[in-house]
Amino acid sequence: MELIREEKRERAVFATKLGAIATTVGSAVGLGNIWRFPYEAGVHGGGAFLICYLGFVFLIGIPLLIAEFVMGRGTRSNVFGAYRKLSPGTRWDLFGVLGIITSLIILSFYTVVAGWTAEFCLASITGELNFATEEARHEGFMVLTNGGNSMIWTNVFIAFNFCILIGGVTKGIERASNILMPLFFLLLVVFCINSFFLPGFWEGMNYLFWPDFSKITPSVILGALGQAFFSMSLGLGCMMTYASYFNSGSRLGKTAVTTSILDTMVAVLAGVIIFPAVFSFGLSPSAGPTLVFEVLPHIFYQLPGGGIWSTLFFLLLFLASLTSTVSLSEISISYFCEEKGMTRGKAVMVSTLITIFGAILCALSFGPLAGFTIFGLDFFNLFDYVSSNVLMPLGGLGCSVFVGWFVKRQFIENELTDHGKYKFRLLKIMVFFLQWICPAAIILIFLNSIGAI
Ligand code: PFF
Repeated sequence: MELIREEKRERAVFATKLGAIATTVGSAVGLGNIWRFPYEAGVHGGGAFLICYLGFVFLIGIPLLIAEFVMGRGTRSNVFGAYRKLSPGTRWDLFGVLGIITSLIILSFYTVVAGWTAEFCLASITGELNFATEEARHEGFMVLTNGGNSMIWTNVFIAFNFCILIGGVTKGIERASNILMPLFFLLLVVFCINSFFLPGFWEGMNYLFWPDFSKITPSVILGALGQAFFSMSLGLGCMMTYASYFNSGSRLGKTAVTTSILDTMVAVLAGVIIFPAVFSFGLSPSAGPTLVFEVLPHIFYQLPGGGIWSTLFFLLLFLASLTSTVSLSEISISYFCEEKGMTRGKAVMVSTLITIFGAILCALSFGPLAGFTIFGLDFFNLFDYVSSNVLMPLGGLGCSVFVGWFVKRQFIENELTDHGKYKFRLLKIMVFFLQWICPAAIILIFLNSIGAI
């Protein structure tokens, strides 16, 4: 993405409108869609989960995404600075702190999974992923993802992330992702078509799309809410930070809707790829975080030229993960630079060191730290659960109440209409959602999941 410096303004901005969409989609589309969505849907009963998830994307996700955009571009600040500028002298900025902490927690486990994508890509090239039997595949999978290997590959991934971050706000990677992300999408479509020919196609479709309403429990609802936040990069100021680099011509409403639709499409495509394969190869949909990595090689290696498909897929997934971790890292980096006066290099260093520390804890959850649990969860699963199901919705609650009730209506309108240049007809209804629907839904889901109602 080409960056230009706006006159008299110190902060970099994206040069084009497409840049705004490409970067937000780059942040939203990643492991959350391909890895986390299928495993969460699998654990939580398929169709019932999908319905709740879609509901949350449209009812809570889109208004909140717009709210984050408004705060980010309106203040041109990092998440902490955005709260502070809009409400000086109050402690709303604690939600900024919460977002920064959440981003570092997510980076800890996300980079472990992203490390597997790099490892699987290499194993596809060397042919190591092409196991002869079912047992060998499972065994091989355990070796690939064990603590030691995970730790090495996590750090390889973090090194890539570091190099991109140190080069400033993402020039090369964004340019590359403009080409690679459509390619990724195309590849997903090819695999979806392939799904159709698998013996378990209808069973998989049924599982994913046919909701069994009796399966909707508080944990399914909370899981779907968490997934919507995770997939749309919401509730921690990521989209706020990116919006602070948008130029003034970007249309926030359109950008939010386009991002949400593309993000949701990719998740559903991943489901259409994974579930037919799960049933065709006699696997269990509720295998948890390792589901996708166990299932995908099955799909690739029953195709002619399996190694090539596999290499290409994991390479593109690696890149999609990278555009997401760059956005996650940018939350704390922009904070360190703007609020703590660090140079960019130092800020990248600090953020990377914290990430490495957290990532080692998570990687070793697949090895020596497997037995170390808190509330019955190892570090990897604890960080995943707490960030998506507690911290992000909490941050989203803060943001919706703040923008809905405390930010001046005129400020919101100016951002959404570019000071009257465009129409934004849904302003009233959006503010209504931010004031009432989003907070009420998040609070009710929290209370419900702890058994209070
Ligand atoms: N939305 C990303 C994904 O689906 O992989 C993950 C993510 C990125 C979460 C950035 C949060 C965030 F701030």
